[in-house]
Amino acid sequence: MIRRAVPNDVARLADLEADNLGQDAWSAGLVAAGVAGDLPTITWWVAEVDGVVVAHAVASVVADIAELQRIAVDPTHRRTGLARELLAEVGSVARAEGADRLLLEVREDNSGALSFYADQGFVEIDRRRRYYRDGATAIVLRLPLVSGCG
Ligand SMILES: CC(C)(COP(=O)(O)OP(=O)(O)OC[C@H]1O[C@@H](n2cnc3c(N)ncnc32)[C@H](O)[C@@H]1OP(=O)(O)O)[C@@H](O)C(=O)NCCC(=O)NCCS
Repeated sequence: MIRRAVPNDVARLADLEADNLGQDAWSAGLVAAGVAGDLPTITWWVAEVDGVVVAHAVASVVADIAELQRIAVDPTHRRTGLARELLAEVGSVARAEGADRLLLEVREDNSGALSFYADQGFVEIDRRRRYYRDGATAIVLRLPLVSGCG
């Protein structure tokens, strides 16, 4: 089940961040602020399996551009379509809010995520050098949310 995150999810989400994003993980404080709605334009979603939160996605929408800031699935639940479901929900909400494209940055060495995004129809539009803390390059990807966009 996909739903919006609530304050009760924060501890679990901070764990999922640490487990899945390593040194790029957001702190519990930042997770709490985002889930509480204290960060303008930011929305958090979770995916639950048997009542346990096992995946999350974070996106912001500003006018015609949506940005996917996070998507992560607990390793034991990968390749079961959860990221696909989360992304569909993000895209649908972003489109309803007026976005015509979804952008994101992904580490150039994250081959699993790159395969997922390619499968979902994202295309590379740019690269950002030294984007991550360890100096790794980010690949900028775009997914059209409406026909005729890019
Ligand atoms: C990338 C990630 C979110 C994908 O989540 P997922 O729930 O396993 O993805 P899905 O099951 O929805 O996959 C949908 C399709 O994407 C492709 N795909 C997903 N993961 C893949 C992988 N590791 N290798 C190759 N293709 C992959 C496949 O085509 C898959 O369909 P299939 O399983 O029927 O072959 C997950 O691997 C993850 O959490 N990684 C760590 C966090 C991360 O790097 N997030 C992105 C940067 S913030």
